Amino acid sequence: MGLTDPDDAAVWRLSESRALVVTTDFFTPVVDTPFEYGAIAAANSLSDVYAMGGDPFLALNIAALPDHLPIEISSEILRGGAEKAREAGVVIAGGHTVKDKEPKYGLVAIGFINPQKIIRKKGLVVGDVLILTKPLGVGVTTTAIKQEKARADHVQEAVDWMSSLNRTASQLALEIGVRGGTDITGFGLAGHAAEMALAANLSLHIKFDNLPFLQGAKGYAKLGCFPGGAFDNQKFYAAYVRFASHLDESDRMLCFDPQTSGGLLLGVPQESLTVFQKRAEEIHLPAWIIGEAGDGQGIIIE
Ligand code: CO
Ligand code: CO
Repeated sequence: MGLTDPDDAAVWRLSESRALVVTTDFFTPVVDTPFEYGAIAAANSLSDVYAMGGDPFLALNIAALPDHLPIEISSEILRGGAEKAREAGVVIAGGHTVKDKEPKYGLVAIGFINPQKIIRKKGLVVGDVLILTKPLGVGVTTTAIKQEKARADHVQEAVDWMSSLNRTASQLALEIGVRGGTDITGFGLAGHAAEMALAANLSLHIKFDNLPFLQGAKGYAKLGCFPGGAFDNQKFYAAYVRFASHLDESDRMLCFDPQTSGGLLLGVPQESLTVFQKRAEEIHLPAWIIGEAGDGQGIIIE
């Protein structure tokens, strides 16, 4: 898998019961603190393995660092990545660094996955309940940080969510038998939802009032702190999305806000919803019900 459908990672079958799942991701700093940047980049790189129901075990660093960057800073970035990998039970066994004007960091991540239990964007079925496991609004919040408009507690909240692993969400999804899912990243909620709806040939009905947002997100959206990616997403995906008329421009744009290291969007079968919610509470996994998969096509946000 990985050449045709829009999957989160490539999958290579080794046997009937075991396959490798392989992915890579790296990006420029989203926060000012190097350790946290490294941790967020690592959590984000591992996320595509989790999104497919894989269990990552091995990784390599990919870094591009400016010549003049003090060694304390570059080593903090790598330490942040290493600590996060360790938390995930992943060994970073090497990597490669090149020089570049703007820092970039991430991982190549490899995991094992059961080929019978892969979670895919096209795995959604009509009736599945849509569950989101992290709040939205990361793009506007990190843009507010860059514009020096962000409140310290809002920054901390965003950092905490971005650096948290999607591991428990993935494990619970596997346990419950979820077959449709992805992680919400650069294309934003609406973009990734559109990918799933297209791949599965169904529609997604999302309740805006049920969407979880970081505490400062709506305020930063009103201030117009959207990153360029939000407008790219809007241009590309607007044709697939219908909004209820009461939603104003900044609410609509928030649905296109690109997320860094966002949560999983899972399609939980109706009959498994009670068990999913009970187990999520037991393992302290945040899980918001944001909508449902239905017949027809497109994304309806009301
Ligand atoms: Co992904
Ligand atoms: Co990715």
